[in-house]
Amino acid sequence: MTKKFNRHLVTSALPYANGPVHIGHLAGVYIPSDIYTRYLRLRGEDVIHICGSDEHGVPITIKAKQEGVTPQDVVDKYHTIIKDSFEKLGISFDIFSRTTSQTHKETASDFFKKLYEKGEFIEQSSEQYYDELADQFLADRYITGTCPHCNNEKAYGDQCEACGTSLNATDLINPKSAITGNVPTLKETKHWFLPLDKHEPFLRKWILEDHKEWKSNVYGQCKSWLDLGLQPRAVSRDLNWGVPVPVEGAEGKVLYVWFDAPIGYISATKDLTPDWEKYWKQEDTKMVHFIGKDNIVFHCIVFPAMLKADGSYILPENVPANEFLNLEGDKISTSKNWAVWLHEYVEDFKGQEDVLRYALCANAPETKDNDFTWKDFQARNNNELVAILGNFVNRALVLTQKYFDGIVPERGELTDFDKETLAEIPVIRQNIEKSIESYRFREAIKEMMNMARLGNKYLADTEPWKLIKTDENRVKTILNIALQITASLTTVMEPFIPFSADKLREFLNINSINWDNIGDADVVAVGHQINKPSLLFEKIEDETIELQLKKLADTKKANQLANREVAPQKENISFDDFCNMDIRVGTIIEAEKVAKTKKLLKITVDTGVDKRTVVSGIAESFSPEEIIGQQVSILLNLEPRKIKGIESQGMILMTEDSEGKLVFITPKEKVLSGTEIR
Ligand code: MF3
Ligand code: ZN
Repeated sequence: MTKKFNRHLVTSALPYANGPVHIGHLAGVYIPSDIYTRYLRLRGEDVIHICGSDEHGVPITIKAKQEGVTPQDVVDKYHTIIKDSFEKLGISFDIFSRTTSQTHKETASDFFKKLYEKGEFIEQSSEQYYDELADQFLADRYITGTCPHCNNEKAYGDQCEACGTSLNATDLINPKSAITGNVPTLKETKHWFLPLDKHEPFLRKWILEDHKEWKSNVYGQCKSWLDLGLQPRAVSRDLNWGVPVPVEGAEGKVLYVWFDAPIGYISATKDLTPDWEKYWKQEDTKMVHFIGKDNIVFHCIVFPAMLKADGSYILPENVPANEFLNLEGDKISTSKNWAVWLHEYVEDFKGQEDVLRYALCANAPETKDNDFTWKDFQARNNNELVAILGNFVNRALVLTQKYFDGIVPERGELTDFDKETLAEIPVIRQNIEKSIESYRFREAIKEMMNMARLGNKYLADTEPWKLIKTDENRVKTILNIALQITASLTTVMEPFIPFSADKLREFLNINSINWDNIGDADVVAVGHQINKPSLLFEKIEDETIELQLKKLADTKKANQLANREVAPQKENISFDDFCNMDIRVGTIIEAEKVAKTKKLLKITVDTGVDKRTVVSGIAESFSPEEIIGQQVSILLNLEPRKIKGIESQGMILMTEDSEGKLVFITPKEKVLSGTEIR
């Protein structure tokens, strides 16, 4: 039985305001939700799209500490950056709110109070980790340790990012405070718990029986959670950043961020419309949550249990979570700066917002993790947007200008090929509808491109540029049909690549846009004047891509440097041992390669004491010519040793630069050869 819905409530996961957003966020959540919402709007549906910043939680306070500012400063800064990036990429939220708003504090607080008064919580004292030095409890990310499931040494108190398991801080092996690095102690504290176990029978039926149609990654994760058995979950924390727990005896306690954040969807709806209850409480609303896979349990189990405990809310109809997007083979990471940041993309690729939208949707991690590469991005643009879509509409528009002064020509009698071509339009339209409505956006965008392919093939097969000399009437029909396809394209492009759809409507000099008009011959009626077109998409050159790859290579280098292990200290030596080493500044006066070796140079050094030979393994880093005249540090009284038949009398001291390249230890200013180093 399919339910009849009269309106749609679409939510997109609230991004943490502890950093900017990147392509992983966009591909996983916001591109799909934006396509879905734009499509529903085109169909004339009553739909609202809700989002905002998630501004509480430990990631925010940790960031504030790192930057030496207040948590409010952090969220103000990133809220602005995130909101701006989304706007520039055309993510069309009806509201982008924030969880530090007054509405939200009240809504979250009231939500808790109602559940508290209904007796929906368990109140329990337990021992939690405490940092004596920092004088505070260590919730969630304030504590790190080894994951008991996968041995990742950097698991957090609430989650292991390596294996995705959600944890309790007390599960961690070798727990350490993220604030001071100290080993924490245990201290008694009281918290409120949502008894998920109590809701388990309901959740089992609602998900496992009533929602078998959910994506298999989502359904599978829910099933394994349910099969493990649900436990009560703490919904409060001992922290000073968040929504205060609104009951007596809860000083110094706030709502757990995963309790308050999803309520953010409700408070944002309140900020959007006084009619908010219609969207949240009427059974004929279809609610869909767009999220990434790390959010599945919170949106499919915890939040529904909260809504159910309240009793006055509807539950989501679907939760189409995506998997993760990697970048050039490595996991995207905010802390490692391994990402393509949206606020940087919109600066580097002004006017090419749709290229990113297209590339990310075409390669979205819908059923498995996927990889974003700049090469693929370039190919998607050059081989698909430019070569197929751009090429087709450009030909249709330019030929109409050239042969008919931009006036839509009339259609004569249609050939079978014309009819077959036109008959494809409603088929493609239906395919797109089916794909979007079942959250298969990769498939949908492919169908969009198929409409451009259809047009391209039509012009290639009919060749109006050849016919114009002999059969102008036939050319009129051909271009009329090509323009009908172009007009249909403006509508099917709209959910996916809205900036280009806009531009194309401008070229066609139309503003009507309605899903039902796809394939309708009257959208560009005979006699209608179209505008002079310019290019819809521009080719992306190799240099542009190399610049982006260089940026990533630099990041990788910087990370390697930051992570380089410093060798541990050696055993102590006596002062006499130290004094026994005779280290001097010397000057290289001759150098040559040692025959039949790759690494060795035979070097003559003026040591001040004498001129002597040293054999040194630096031939791969230096040519003999470039080191003549070089001042070096040399250990003189090292036992001489024969290397490849040459007696080496001493050792030239070397170190490595940040890229692992050998460098000499040279006094900053030139000194006399033979000067002692002490
Ligand atoms: N901030 C969370 C994240 O980035 C998502 C919160 S979604 C909400 O993973 F439902 F809690 F709002
Ligand atoms: Zn793990």
